[in-house]
Amino acid sequence: MSVKKGRVFSGARPTGRQHIGNYFGAISNYVKLQEEYDCIYCIVDLHALTTLETTRDLKQNTLEMTWDWLAAGIDPQKSIVFVQSMVRQVTELHTILSMVTPLGKLTDLPTFKEKVRENPKNVNYGLVGYPVLMSADILLYRADMVPVGVDQAPHIEFARETVRSFNFHYSTDVLIEPKEKFTDFPKIMGIDGVNKMSKSLNNDIEIAATATETAAKVMQMVTDPARQRRSDPGNPDVCNVFSLHKIFTPPEKVAEINVECRRAGIGCVDCKKILAANMNAYFAPLRERRLEFEKDPEGTWDILQQGAKRASVIAEETMVSVREAVGLPAIRKD
Ligand code: TRP
Repeated sequence: MSVKKGRVFSGARPTGRQHIGNYFGAISNYVKLQEEYDCIYCIVDLHALTTLETTRDLKQNTLEMTWDWLAAGIDPQKSIVFVQSMVRQVTELHTILSMVTPLGKLTDLPTFKEKVRENPKNVNYGLVGYPVLMSADILLYRADMVPVGVDQAPHIEFARETVRSFNFHYSTDVLIEPKEKFTDFPKIMGIDGVNKMSKSLNNDIEIAATATETAAKVMQMVTDPARQRRSDPGNPDVCNVFSLHKIFTPPEKVAEINVECRRAGIGCVDCKKILAANMNAYFAPLRERRLEFEKDPEGTWDILQQGAKRASVIAEETMVSVREAVGLPAIRKD
C-alpha cells in the first residue's frame, strides 16, 4: 500500500437520499480524497437526534445515504465507512471533552443560535453540546484533516480550541488539532433558483431519482425571470439552468446555448430537455450501481458494521490514552 498523506475524517447527518448539492459539495470530494488519504466517513446519527422529532426513518435514512455514498464510489475497501452510534467511545469522549468546554462558548456559536431561531421549542442539552460531539468525532479518530462546507468552519475552530484546552489542562499531547478543508465546488442552487439546494426547502434533485423524475424537476426549474415569452432573449448569467449546464453539458454545447439563449434561438423548454438528458447520462452508472446495493440491505449493514469494527480499534486506542491523561482508571480487557 502506498504511503498516504494523513487521515481524513468527515461526517454527515443521515438525511436519506442525497441531492446533487450534496454530491458535488461533499460526496465527490470524499471519493477523490480516498486516493491520497486514509479516510474515515461517518454517518452521524447521534447528531441527527439533536433535531429530530421522530426517529422512525432514522435507519432507513442511514441506508439510503449509505447507498448513495457507495454507489458514488466511496469504497469500504479503501476507506472506513460506518455509523457514529456503533462506536460507543464517541459518547465517552464527548462527556470528557464537555468538562473542558465553557458553556458560553457553545451558546455563542452562530450555528447554535441559528438552530434556536429555527426551533425555539426544542433547545435540548444535546443541541448545545453538538459541537462537543462533533469534536469528539474528529479527535477520537485523530484526524489531520476534515473536509466540510464553510458553514462548519466555527465547529472546526472549536475542535482545535478544545484540543488546546484539553492538552493544556491535562498536560498531554494525545489529542491532535485538525485542519479543515473546504470544498471548492461552487454552491448548487435549488430548482427555485434562489436558495441553496436543500432537502428541507424541497428544492432538490436527488442523485438517485429516475430519469423521468429528474426531467420533471428540471422542467420546474426557475430560469431568467425577465424572460417571459419564448421570443424574449434570455440572460444565461442569471439562469440556474445555465449554471447546471456548466457542470453536466460538454463545453462546446454550453457555449452554443450561451449564444442561442441570448438571441432567443433556443427556448427554456428545449434548454431544460438537454440539461435533463445530460444529468441523467451523468448519473446513470451511479444509479445502476445503487440498484445493486438496494437489493441487499443486510449486506449494507454488514459493511457499516465492519467499518465500525475498524473504527473502534482506533477509537479505543485514543480512549486508553485519554483515560490515562485524565487520571481515570484503565479498563481491563478480558
Ligand atoms: N456538523 C456537521 C454538519 O452538519 C456534521 C458532522 C458531525 C461532522 N460530525 C462531524 C462533519 C465531524 C465533519 C466532521 O455538516
